[in-house]
Amino acid sequence: MMMSETITIPVTQNPNTNYQNIDIYNCPFGKIHTDHMLICDYKDGAWQMPKIVPFKNFEMSPFSRVFHYGQAIFEGMKAYKDEQDAVWLFRPHDNFTRFNSSAKRMAIPELPEEYFMEGVRKLVATEKNWIPKGFGNSLYIRPFIIATEQGILAAPSSDYRFAVIVAPANAYYYNDVNVVVAERYSRAANGGVGAAKVAGNYGAQFYPTQLAIKEGYQQIIWTDDIEHKYLEESGTMNVFFRINDTLITAPTSDRILDGVTRKSVLKIAENLERMNVEVRPITIDELKAAHEDGSLKEIFGTGTAAVITPIASFSHENKAYKLNKQADSFAVKLKQDLLNIQYNITKDTFGWRKKVL
Ligand code: COI
Repeated sequence: MMMSETITIPVTQNPNTNYQNIDIYNCPFGKIHTDHMLICDYKDGAWQMPKIVPFKNFEMSPFSRVFHYGQAIFEGMKAYKDEQDAVWLFRPHDNFTRFNSSAKRMAIPELPEEYFMEGVRKLVATEKNWIPKGFGNSLYIRPFIIATEQGILAAPSSDYRFAVIVAPANAYYYNDVNVVVAERYSRAANGGVGAAKVAGNYGAQFYPTQLAIKEGYQQIIWTDDIEHKYLEESGTMNVFFRINDTLITAPTSDRILDGVTRKSVLKIAENLERMNVEVRPITIDELKAAHEDGSLKEIFGTGTAAVITPIASFSHENKAYKLNKQADSFAVKLKQDLLNIQYNITKDTFGWRKKVL
C-alpha cells in the first residue's frame, strides 16, 4: 500500500552533500549519517511543525534535562529498496504507536501521528539514494525525542526535540552469537520501563555486556529480576526457543519489549504448518532439560536491527551448552519469509509493507 502525504513538511536541501564520498554498501551499522534529518520541537505546550534540514549538530545547553535525567526515547525502523528501486517501510504504524507509549511512560508529550508517519516517509524519500539494495541492506531509521528544557530540577521537561536521522545499514551481527544467561544483572523490572524504548534501557546493558564480552560471549540472555529464572530477552533483541517443532517466546510484560520483528515472526510461524507456537514463560531449567534430552533445537533473537540472529550456544552457572546446526532451521525459514515480505519479493498477505515511493 502507498503511503500518502498527509501534511507538507518543508525540506531545505543540503548544498554540501556527502553522498559521493560514501560507499553505501560498506557502512558499519549506524555510523554514517545521510545529508538530511528531520527536526520538530515542542514548546509552549505544543509540537511545532516538523522540517527536514541539512544534517548538523544540535546546539544545546549543558543544563538540558536529557543530560541529567535521561528523559529520552527512540525507535528503530528500516526502509528497504526492492529490485525495481521501489522503497518500502515495514509496519511503520506499529513503531509510531510504540513511540507514543514510550513517550507516555517517560512523561513526554505524545506526538501527532502525521508528524511521525509523514516525517519518516518524507525523510526516507529525501534520502532514497542512500538506501543500499539487497537482502540485509537497508536504511536504518532512528526517530527519537530528547528533553531540552534547561534546568537541573528532577522533573519532566517543558521542551523537547523530536528528530529522525537515517543511516545506510548492512548486517548488525555477521555471525551467530554465543550468550550467557544473566544470573546477577537485570535489564528490567516489574513496574519499570522495560516495555518502553527508553534510552537508559540500552545504556544500562553496557556494563554487564562488557563483562560478558570479556568472558568470550557476544550477548546476554536477560532473565527476570527476582529469581533470574525466566528467560526474557537477549541483548537488544526478543528471544525465541525451538523445542522439537514448537517455537516458544515469553509474553510481553512490563519487562519485555513488544518487538515488531517478534510479533511478525509469531504471525509468520503461526501460519506455517510445520511450526507450533507458544507464547508463555520459559525457564532456564526447562531450557537445560531440553538441551539434555536433545529436544532443544534452536535459539534465536529478533529485532529490527538484528533481524533474526541465531544463537550458537548459551552458558549458565559456568557451564556451556552448544546447539547443533539444524538442516530444517526455523530461524532460516522465518528470516527468509520475513525478508521476502520486507523486500517486496513475495505477496504481503498481512498488509505490513507500506510503499514510500
Ligand atoms: C533495533 O533493533 O532497531 C533497536 O532499536 C535496537 C538497537 C539497540 C540497535
